[in-house]
Amino acid sequence: MFSNLLFYLFFHSLFRWLVLASLIYAIYRAAKGYAGKAIFTKFDDKVRHYTATIAHIQLVLGILLYTQSPIIKYFMRNYAVAVHERETRFFGMEHITVMVTAIVCITIGSAAAKRKPNDRAKFKTMLIWFSIGLLLILTSVPWPFSPVVARPYFRQF
Ligand code: HEM
Repeated sequence: MFSNLLFYLFFHSLFRWLVLASLIYAIYRAAKGYAGKAIFTKFDDKVRHYTATIAHIQLVLGILLYTQSPIIKYFMRNYAVAVHERETRFFGMEHITVMVTAIVCITIGSAAAKRKPNDRAKFKTMLIWFSIGLLLILTSVPWPFSPVVARPYFRQF
């Protein structure tokens, strides 16, 4: 049977790979461009823009999932107990806080890079803010090997 929860969970899980791949590619281009004193091309600008957009889509998927997740429902209804349980606290508080912070960093980096007066400053701004975003995301994904909360690399639908 079709379920909103499984649908959002599937896409939220899958979309993380696009978030990670786009960020890594944008950071690589920014580092190369900055180090090589390259011209910030239209393509670089597209990479900047789409990387931020992909992160925003993941934010929307995360918010949708938040409204459907039984873990979040349990967390909200039983806060006093649930806040002391690892898994519920992770999804109820830590995951959302760290991920929203990461996406704010990516948004700031993208907007600031756009307004910088020269190409080197654009690459540098992107490099710094996107790297902070990536590091935050890497620490808050529930990887299968995580001792805190483990989820599969790919969700079945
Ligand atoms: C770049 C940002 C994000 C990444 C890479 C990410 C990644 C993930 C991954 C890999 C899972 C595990 C999925 C599974 O069980 O197979 C997950 C679960 C979850 N995420 Fe995110 N997430 C991000 C942002 C957010 C945001 C901003 C929110 C909330 C507004 C959110 C809410 C949730 C919830 C509620 C779950 C667990 C739902 C459940 O198991 O019932 N995520 N996330």
